[in-house]
Amino acid sequence: MVKICCIGAGYVGGPTCAVIALKCPHIPVTIVDLNQDRIDAWNSDTLPIFEPGLQEVVTQCRGRNLFFSTAIDDAIRAADIIFVSVNTPTKKNGLGAGFAADLAYVEAATRRIAAVAQSSKIVVEKSTVPCRTAESMRRILEANSRDAIRFEILSNPEFLAEGTAIADLMQPDRILIGSLPTPEGRKAQHVLADVYAEWVPRPQIITMNLWSSELSKLAANALLAQRISSINALSAICEATGADVDEVAYACGLDSRIGPKFLKASVGFGGSCFQKDILNLVYLSESLHLPEVAQYWKQVVDLNEYQKRRFAQSVVSRLFNTITNKRLAVFGFAFKKNTGDTRESAAIAVIASFLNERAHVHIHDPEVSAAQIELELVQPGVCTQAVYDAQVHRFADPYEAAKDADAIVICTEWEQFAQLDYQRLYDSMHKPAFVFDGRLILDAPKLRQIGFQVEVIGKPAAPKPGFNA
Ligand code: UDX
Ligand code: ADP
Repeated sequence: MVKICCIGAGYVGGPTCAVIALKCPHIPVTIVDLNQDRIDAWNSDTLPIFEPGLQEVVTQCRGRNLFFSTAIDDAIRAADIIFVSVNTPTKKNGLGAGFAADLAYVEAATRRIAAVAQSSKIVVEKSTVPCRTAESMRRILEANSRDAIRFEILSNPEFLAEGTAIADLMQPDRILIGSLPTPEGRKAQHVLADVYAEWVPRPQIITMNLWSSELSKLAANALLAQRISSINALSAICEATGADVDEVAYACGLDSRIGPKFLKASVGFGGSCFQKDILNLVYLSESLHLPEVAQYWKQVVDLNEYQKRRFAQSVVSRLFNTITNKRLAVFGFAFKKNTGDTRESAAIAVIASFLNERAHVHIHDPEVSAAQIELELVQPGVCTQAVYDAQVHRFADPYEAAKDADAIVICTEWEQFAQLDYQRLYDSMHKPAFVFDGRLILDAPKLRQIGFQVEVIGKPAAPKPGFNA
């Protein structure tokens, strides 16, 4: 019988190992973290992350074969398989700053494993990390191998998307397991494959070499983000020419070679993965002396920045070129619907522009707390504490947020935003009242009937009669 330990109780480690515990009731799974508050939350009725279906999974397994703890060393010693799911943020200082991943957390976790292990372990790289991180982990572990203690390193990238994590984990498109091409590496691959085989059909469990597996994760995210930047680039052309980006995406998506997914124009992609992974790819390409390749991928991120800027600027220009002292109701702060995660959310850049223009920003998001909003906004390049205190307010109620506002700005595609009573919102706002839909989720013709001035990304400002908007 194998025992599993997961180092890092975050958005990846938590849901992934909770689902492993659910699907493999005979395997004890312990998720550990340095952060006591986070572990306490995992052990409470209010989990530290909002993810549909997660609470049910955790409730079913916690105390049975799923445990959350800060006793990291004990969990490492007891486990046969150790997932490393710690954070890998973009480096802020030093070599590769702004591009390369900061591997300090991965290194610390790896060194801990090496230091405390008393038996052989399979160490699984689960965090998103640049290509060849497993090699660094392997060298640390190998340098610390002793007597009969061996460490086998595997790469097992996670493809879950937040908001749909539980479904993604229960029915994954594929499981990738990379290993060194040695008999021991292949044996370790089989041990991990047997865990997934408890619920994933064998043909979907793919084994390959370590580097292919690592690069596949970066490549998949880069390709997905590239589709969004492509459709967002087209959205600018649509606005300038009167085409409708939804119609263009639909027409293109019908081509079976293209397919319909990840072609939704938006204010810009966010999240902890896309930008970070592409910047990693850019850094990797540069390190490999492939400047053209680096430039190609960098453009995907640059276009995303442009889209956020373009959207914020359109708000200012439509509000008669000034938003100073005006109230703007921003609906949505999370980087996508069905999550409370705000990392790299497009809303941050949009709000930063508004604050720079000295507007008052009233934020409503069903899952993001005032404390989290403050944490994201009081940052270099966004705003100071004084600006935050004077100009930012968080409202639990969308109607309160929009009261006396000049505009509603949709930054996240929460479905409930489409269900609001827009007549009521309109009645409480300054006139002319504007709606800027950065997610293409509202019924623009209906809003125009109410009296709103409506701007939608990738759509003509005032559709001609007969236009199917
Ligand atoms: C992504 C990958 O999808 C997942 O496989 C990987 O493991 C982690 O990174 P995630 O960032 O959680 O997942 O969410 P995703 O659904 O990919 O959305 C990322 C961003 O793109 C969000 O801001 C989303 O709103 C935006 N998006 C997505 C669009 O703007 N248009 C689309 O068509 C799809
Ligand atoms: P992700 O989205 O990749 O899961 P998170 O930031 O949500 O990233 O989670 C990573 C978790 O890893 C954090 O809760 C952090 O406290 C934890 N962590 C980082 N380094 C270590 C370590 N050396 N040992 C244990 N936990 C760690």
